Amino acid sequence: MNILVTGGAGYIGSHAVKMLLEDDHHVVVIDDLSTGDKQAVDERAVFYNLSTHEEQAVKQVLTDEKIDAVMHFAAFSLVNESVAHPLKYYHNNIEGTRALIQAMVAANVLTMIFSSTAAVYGEQKTMPIKETAPLSPSNPYGITKKTIEDMLKDVHQAHPAFNYMILRYFNVAGAYHDGSIGENHDPETHLIPNVIKSALFKKPKLKVFGTDYDTTDGSAIRDYIHVEDLIDAHIKALYEATTNKRSDIYNLGSAKGYSVLDIIKATEETLKIPVDYDIKARRAGDPAMLIASHDKIFQDLNWQPTRSLNTMIASAAQYFKKRDDA
Ligand SMILES: NC(=O)c1ccc[n+]([C@@H]2O[C@H](COP(=O)([O-])OP(=O)(O)OC[C@H]3O[C@@H](n4cnc5c(N)ncnc54)[C@H](O)[C@@H]3O)[C@@H](O)[C@H]2O)c1
Repeated sequence: MNILVTGGAGYIGSHAVKMLLEDDHHVVVIDDLSTGDKQAVDERAVFYNLSTHEEQAVKQVLTDEKIDAVMHFAAFSLVNESVAHPLKYYHNNIEGTRALIQAMVAANVLTMIFSSTAAVYGEQKTMPIKETAPLSPSNPYGITKKTIEDMLKDVHQAHPAFNYMILRYFNVAGAYHDGSIGENHDPETHLIPNVIKSALFKKPKLKVFGTDYDTTDGSAIRDYIHVEDLIDAHIKALYEATTNKRSDIYNLGSAKGYSVLDIIKATEETLKIPVDYDIKARRAGDPAMLIASHDKIFQDLNWQPTRSLNTMIASAAQYFKKRDDA
């Protein structure tokens, strides 16, 4: 198939590009390089430095490249930044996606695989979290993703031939198996890259936010999923949407919870390097625990993650070591 990947120069999008190429698709990327890195885009993909907002130009790319489906990763995704600058998030995530869908409908490209997030759930009482749980995002970032989910449902209602797969990611981690690409945001707010950088380079020193949660060791518990498992699920969802013409919503997580202190211990064991850290107060709006149920996607698409926490840590460390040598 001919697949358009928005945000293909970012962490997750660049992995999608490589894995779609491996699966024999023609891959076209649009990315405005606002947070992404052109170097991360595999050279076999066609690259356009373009924003999702540029509706006419995006429509032209969809038509010229005879695109069959869109994987939409392009977004801003820093929770704290979204609290400080909500309009920046409403504009980029919501308006950018509206323009992209408009271009798709105009070009008769009728399948979107969309990156949603566990942030749409907010704080939940029942674990693991099922797709049917009530949505109550607790920050503007989560609200933008929930709004896009609603937009996709409305467009499908109005144009039944338009299909979507909404994939709600829990915490994505790890790097491509050859270490050529990986996660390196600036600023980096995700735990695993920060623990690894602190272990390998001793700076910045790791901060643990909250050790007084109602959890076994007091630190917050999250569900981590390897980026390659995540993209495997995207490719299954792509075939389901295009072949069976179905729209649906799925969680992407491992259904296992690890505390912040578990991650530090696992990193120390995997890398055989001690990790020094400071304990800080909880951050506002950080739930004690987020664990996905992935029963639905296992039943419908026969997907479940196969890569362990150690593989996530080891692959991310391999990526950082390669970058450091470069
Ligand atoms: N990383 C995670 O753990 C995680 C968890 C849940 C959901 N997500 C979602 O997954 C997606 C990818 O996340 P990531 O970690 O790879 O982020 P990232 O910042 O590394 O990648 C985003 C890419 O999109 C590009 N971009 C942003 N706005 C754009 C626009 N309007 N037009 C064109 N390009 C634009 C950026 O330049 C960047 O290359 C996002 O939608 C994010 O909300 C990520």
